[in-house]
Amino acid sequence: MVEENRKSGTEGVEVRGLHRDELPEAVAVLARGMRDNPLHVAAYGEDPHRRWLSHGRLVAGLFSLSPDLEFLCAARGGAILAVTAIAPPGTCRMSPGRRLRMLPHLSRLGPAAALRVLSWAAAWGARDPDEPHVHLGPLAVDADLQGRGIGSLLMREHCARLDQDGTTGYLETDKGVNVRFYERFGYEVTEEAPVLGVPNWFMARRPGAR
Ligand SMILES: CC(C)(COP(=O)(O)OP(=O)(O)OC[C@H]1O[C@@H](n2cnc3c(N)ncnc32)[C@H](O)[C@@H]1OP(=O)(O)O)[C@@H](O)C(=O)NCCC(=O)NCCS
Repeated sequence: MVEENRKSGTEGVEVRGLHRDELPEAVAVLARGMRDNPLHVAAYGEDPHRRWLSHGRLVAGLFSLSPDLEFLCAARGGAILAVTAIAPPGTCRMSPGRRLRMLPHLSRLGPAAALRVLSWAAAWGARDPDEPHVHLGPLAVDADLQGRGIGSLLMREHCARLDQDGTTGYLETDKGVNVRFYERFGYEVTEEAPVLGVPNWFMARRPGAR
């Protein structure tokens, strides 16, 4: 039954790259899909609208300053249902110049949230593996479409590409339920640590895993 529902949730869904002019729609999907993640509550505060707005602004700023980022989306009939950003090996760490150019985007969050986001970025950055890796994230399925197999479609394509290229995959997540999701695709927890007081898991995937 669950499998049947999942299948109907993915009928007609194609996984493909994102066109640059689709970025605003993709940002909106990410902001809605991740609005209630525990790390976002810790970073942006209790107001859901503010979380949605803040994360959308942050991600839009980040994307505009990250020309190396690649994107995969799940789409149906021209509508984007899910999206993920993917940083190829050697591109996920921010240069000092790029960090500086992020400051105007951060300042729009307000000083307290901006400081929390900086602390979050530092905690993730400190754990970024030295070995070459493809860094996944952010990833989200639109809020009312989660649990229907769409995220799995994206991950299947992502992992097939990792295997084809023989590259290690890496990601961070702030939900235990996501750990189980990523484990299905061969990711393993390499570390668990609190970030802004929220449990976070750091996960890596060797080529060919699962
Ligand atoms: C995590 C996410 C990408 C998974 O995509 P999805 O399409 O919902 O997942 P699928 O339907 O393909 O697979 C279902 C599995 O995903 C996991 N899952 C994580 N969040 C879920 C959610 N909100 N609803 C349903 N399943 C969820 C569960 O392990 C579930 O397996 P189960 O049904 O056996 O418990 C999606 O739920 C999402 O966008 N969540 C909110 C944002 C987020 O946490 N992004 C990842 C940040 S690292």
